[in-house]
Amino acid sequence: MDWPKGVDGLCYGGDYNPEQWPENVWDDDVALMREAGVNLVSVGVFSWARLEPKEGEYDFDWLDRVLGKLHDGGIGVNLATPTASPPPWFTLAHPDALNVRPDGTLQVHGSRDTYDVHAPAYREASRRIAAELAGRYADHPALAMWHVHNEYGSTSHSPHAERAFRVWLRQKYSTLEALNDAWWGSFWSQRYSEWDQILAPRATQYLTNPAHELDFKRFTCEAMLDHYREQRDILREAAPDVPITTNHVFGQWVPVDQWRWSEEVDLVAFDSYPGAPDERAEQQSALHADLARSWAGGRPWLLMEQAAGSIHSADGSIAKSPGRMARHSMIHISRGSKGAMFFQWRAGRGGAEQWHSSLVPHSGKDTRMFREVVEFGNALPGIADAADAPVEADVAILWSPESWWATGGHASLPAKIDYLENVAQIHRILRDRGVTVDFAAPEGDLGKYSVVIAPTTYVLSKAAAENLRWFTAGGGRLVASYLTGAVDENCQVWTGGYLGGLTDLFGIRVLEHLPQPAGEQRALWNFGGAERFCELVELRGAQCVTQYATGDVIENQPAVTVNPFGEGEAWYVSCKLADDAWDRLFEALELNGPGLAGVDVVDRGRWRFIINHTDAEAQIGRIIVPAGAWAVDKRPD
Ligand code: GLA
Repeated sequence: MDWPKGVDGLCYGGDYNPEQWPENVWDDDVALMREAGVNLVSVGVFSWARLEPKEGEYDFDWLDRVLGKLHDGGIGVNLATPTASPPPWFTLAHPDALNVRPDGTLQVHGSRDTYDVHAPAYREASRRIAAELAGRYADHPALAMWHVHNEYGSTSHSPHAERAFRVWLRQKYSTLEALNDAWWGSFWSQRYSEWDQILAPRATQYLTNPAHELDFKRFTCEAMLDHYREQRDILREAAPDVPITTNHVFGQWVPVDQWRWSEEVDLVAFDSYPGAPDERAEQQSALHADLARSWAGGRPWLLMEQAAGSIHSADGSIAKSPGRMARHSMIHISRGSKGAMFFQWRAGRGGAEQWHSSLVPHSGKDTRMFREVVEFGNALPGIADAADAPVEADVAILWSPESWWATGGHASLPAKIDYLENVAQIHRILRDRGVTVDFAAPEGDLGKYSVVIAPTTYVLSKAAAENLRWFTAGGGRLVASYLTGAVDENCQVWTGGYLGGLTDLFGIRVLEHLPQPAGEQRALWNFGGAERFCELVELRGAQCVTQYATGDVIENQPAVTVNPFGEGEAWYVSCKLADDAWDRLFEALELNGPGLAGVDVVDRGRWRFIINHTDAEAQIGRIIVPAGAWAVDKRPD
């Protein structure tokens, strides 16, 4: 049980908010959905105020009618619990259930996500509305899946959070002595003598303690997971054969360890909103898809949201050109998504997201957007068989949520570290080389890969370090880049050469961190260049692959090294390599696949997916794909 129940083929649809519209629009919606091949819609994501207009008073009549109409139209429902947006009556009745920022500001209603996941009143109200929905709709024939909450990620620094944090810390450390040691509490007089002295990491005069911050993120992750589990268990009991999911949002501020959460959902759901207008949007989409597939670990996953018509970036929004919506969807489907879903079905007339693009734009069905939606939706049944074949990868990149958390925005670092960019860089270069990659957890199963790449895996636990040693000793090729294993799970430095203590595995010691001036490249002998960050490395048995050609202290010192270890070998890249240098390294490792720059090629069993993002025709093998188009080819048995 892991597929939206009763939905055949690939899922196609999106968030559907009929409560924002008069009922005469609903029939039109169902007719248009049928025309577009929509077979699944997410309903009720933000409907709490309509479902429970006053505490304990419910109005399900409208939802009954909506679900009835959708079912009559053959459209499955991904029914949400509305807990991401408590109604105004709730926040007024329970001001202690409001989210508190690090500076103590209370976030009031008037937007969304106004809740404190640790507040008992919020937890109780969440269970209550989930139970009401479960009781009423568990046996509804339209019900295909439950969608718990929306995009978990709001961190609260409230008194409730603090109390729960202390309980969590007591369970983790047992004694204050152990906590004080793990947090290096002797620095700046931070040793605690009572549990009640420990706060959520609030706004402070100067730098906060990195171990304290990291534990608070872990704690928030677990608390949100508890909130999810409470609802999931209620829904599961009422409808044991209906899959349950929650949609992940992607951001450094989100304290969700996707590896942990993926064990708790029946299907991994991911919202992909690339944040750049140019070809980086395709790179980011492919990165998101490979991450989501890897989190799912062989179980199904689904692109739950994307924008149909525009990309929002720091430079403003830009419209997706014709065909780009379909190509972005195909990036996800080719990499394993069980379909393509969107936010949202029909563009709203008002509200904060009134200008967000939609499958049905404000101007209605007679539009380029809707024609594209219909064309793509009607093409999907033709590739449903192809999308059943597994995506297989021989190369994995480590994805360490804790390294992302620990390096984001915190000043206690050897230099500014953009963890996501380092991961994305490796993914981007391998994608350009036509290599399909998985992601793997640092402590996860690496046994099926022949190459594992650890980009700046700053936080490396003892268990993860042993995992890398095991992988390499057994014949794997490990490639780690600068600052990997700089600190352990308590954010304490691995002394004696960094590298997570794996100095014997790499055959080197890292002696010094040497951040470099912005805009200056450090040339490597016959190997392109490095930017921003270099390390001084001492050889202890490894061979030097290339040296720095310039730079005081590092001139002629090893930049890239390789060390045979057991049956495998461990490569180390002591700097932030430029793209061309990584490309050279992957050439040396013979990591090649089919493909051209700007053309995604993903082989799945006998099927090959080709997505041509360029404005020229592309030929891959015998298949010619027009500019901006996609194709799926099946090899004979
Ligand atoms: C998120 C939310 C949606 C909507 C979109 C807009 O993904 O889940 O409700 O706000 O962003 O991009």
